[in-house]
Amino acid sequence: MRKKCPAPPGELAGLRARLAVADETLRAICSGEVDSVVGAGKKGSPVFTQDGAEHAYRVLIESMNEGALMLTADKTILYANKCFARMVKCPLEQVIGGSLRRFLSTEDRATLRPLLKRAASCGAKIPVVLHVGDGSRMPGHLSIRPLARNGFKSATFGVVVTDMTEARRNEELLRTLTHRVVQAQEAERGRVALELHDTITQMLCAVLVCSQTLVDKLPARNRTAKGEAKKLHEIIRKTVEEVERISRNLRPSVLDHLGLVAGLHDTSTEFANRTGVRVKLICVDLTARLPADTELALYRILQETLKNVEKHARARHVTVYLTKPGNIVQLTIHDDGMGFDPDHRPVRLKGEGGFGLLGMRERAAYVGGTLKVKSVRRAGTEIEIRIPLPPDAGTPPPVRP
Ligand SMILES: Nc1ncnc2c1ncn2[C@@H]1O[C@H](COP(=O)(O)OP(=O)(O)OP(=O)(O)O)[C@@H](O)[C@H]1O
Ligand SMILES: [Mg+2]
Repeated sequence: MRKKCPAPPGELAGLRARLAVADETLRAICSGEVDSVVGAGKKGSPVFTQDGAEHAYRVLIESMNEGALMLTADKTILYANKCFARMVKCPLEQVIGGSLRRFLSTEDRATLRPLLKRAASCGAKIPVVLHVGDGSRMPGHLSIRPLARNGFKSATFGVVVTDMTEARRNEELLRTLTHRVVQAQEAERGRVALELHDTITQMLCAVLVCSQTLVDKLPARNRTAKGEAKKLHEIIRKTVEEVERISRNLRPSVLDHLGLVAGLHDTSTEFANRTGVRVKLICVDLTARLPADTELALYRILQETLKNVEKHARARHVTVYLTKPGNIVQLTIHDDGMGFDPDHRPVRLKGEGGFGLLGMRERAAYVGGTLKVKSVRRAGTEIEIRIPLPPDAGTPPPVRP
């Protein structure tokens, strides 16, 4: 039996020092502070690279405020950063190796499947609702890019997951604010319309009657004075008409008293007479009044659309259809003008308009509806608004030519 001799104290200290160096080297390699290791061999000094750039990326990804995933085509998570684990409130070790499917709704899974196929060539973006570990839901956004295969047999994807909770909250806030602005605007318009009607229009009507009396009383031989009085009478008559038109636009009493079809008819006729653009109005026979908010939204959207036709379209014909497919009321306004690219928003100077379409969309959304813009350059524009109705808003089947 051989007896172990303790190393002399000097040698022990040397061994300890070398162990400390080895420990430190290992720590540096593991934490990525080392890009490459140069070894000592019989045939020279081989260099073992540590791929420092990859480490830098990993540090970047771990410090991101967004979730980052590496996925296989069948949605297995090969890698997830800590932020994603925090987002879905699930331990990282349970996330990695699992499937992304467990965090998605059935609809989102179905949407993601073809998207991953498409993403293999060009990438894709998709809004989702993430099913979080504690049972809650989180609005998110996935941005998917294909990754180089890097030795993997099947395609892999890099996915950046953005938490949209704050963005959705801000959108909601903005929507509430817009609703309030629209409500305040309607109230103010109504007040101004009433003032105009009760004061200015009444006074102008009195002046109109007086001017007619003046025309009648002036003797025929005083031709110049009579002619001037007639001109004055005509100017006052036109002023009364214009004030009435402004008042009607501000608060459509015809809409209040006679309903949507009469309101649409009034606006279309006034527009056609004033601009010379031919307007064809085809309406379903509504037997019952629609909710007041819905009627007002459709009426205002038609006004705004006609304003756009006048301002931008250079159209000759406009067709307005009001239909009621099922329990939805649909207004479609088509013009045969120059059209535009709805996806391209023109750059505007600060304070310059450009809120018409946005306001129309908000008005439709306010009553639970949607607004679609279909437009092709030199082939006209179509605005389609669909608003769901409460179950008791019963009318006969739609009539559309
Ligand atoms: N019927 C249309 N025909 C051609 N272009 C249109 C039509 N409607 C809208 N556009 C285009 O879309 C843009 C946005 O319309 P929007 O109503 O939002 O703003 P605007 O009319 O320019 O300004 P605002 O409505 O605030 O006075 C317009 O500037 C115009 O280029
Ligand atoms: Mg406009």
